[in-house]
Amino acid sequence: MSTPDTQTQGTTDGAPAWPGQDPGSHAADPRATAFAAAHPVRPVPATGPVDTSPAALTPAAADLDSLWKAVVQETRARGNDFHLPISLAYAERLCRAYPEADAELVRVTIVLHDTGWAHVDEARILSEGFTGDWRKAAIRYEHEAEGCKVARRVLPGLGYSAAFIERVCEIIDGHDTRHVAYSIEDALVRDADRLWRFDHAGIALASSWFGMTPDVYTDRLATEIIPELITDAAVQMGTADLARSNALLKTGVIR
Ligand SMILES: [Fe+2]
Ligand SMILES: [Fe+2]
Repeated sequence: MSTPDTQTQGTTDGAPAWPGQDPGSHAADPRATAFAAAHPVRPVPATGPVDTSPAALTPAAADLDSLWKAVVQETRARGNDFHLPISLAYAERLCRAYPEADAELVRVTIVLHDTGWAHVDEARILSEGFTGDWRKAAIRYEHEAEGCKVARRVLPGLGYSAAFIERVCEIIDGHDTRHVAYSIEDALVRDADRLWRFDHAGIALASSWFGMTPDVYTDRLATEIIPELITDAAVQMGTADLARSNALLKTGVIR
């Protein structure tokens, strides 16, 4: 997961300031400025249908099953076998809400984005990845770089072009550590990477990572993660999921 699950501080332009990062470092990148200029309204309004029903009602399509088979080992790390398929289901909905995006790019990238966790020192995932100034923890950069290696290893054999693979890696590289999106596809991957945790399965897993009770975690989803979502479809989906999860888990009472 990408994990912007902890403290963020709003800036005057409404963008979250990520502790420990120079807020201007990537914002000045031409890709970031082009995306920002093309999408002045935030959260970005949907141009297609927005489905806010439970994600379990629309599991991901089967056409990427050969890709899943290629990364079974990587799904066994750090809850990826929950995080990745659930995030793909959300990503597919986001692609329907933003039909102008390259859906194949979004879908392949979300499947692979966290596979790098399987190739870093597992003991450091919790010790560095979820504590202190975790957003610039070295292990976060490492899991992004390792994820690009996985993409470059498995995608050629599945028929993906070199140009497509580079676009996948462009999104994987920085998905946790860069705070601005470079394209609509990048934005949809980022939002799908956050939306899975609004489902009760995501709440169960992610709250345990952060050592939080469900009521504390769901409060943080509302106050910290909803404002980070880039697209309006994601805001609608996350808001609907959070209401259902709060009711299901009785977080208003058990606190
Ligand atoms: Fe992720
Ligand atoms: Fe990640």
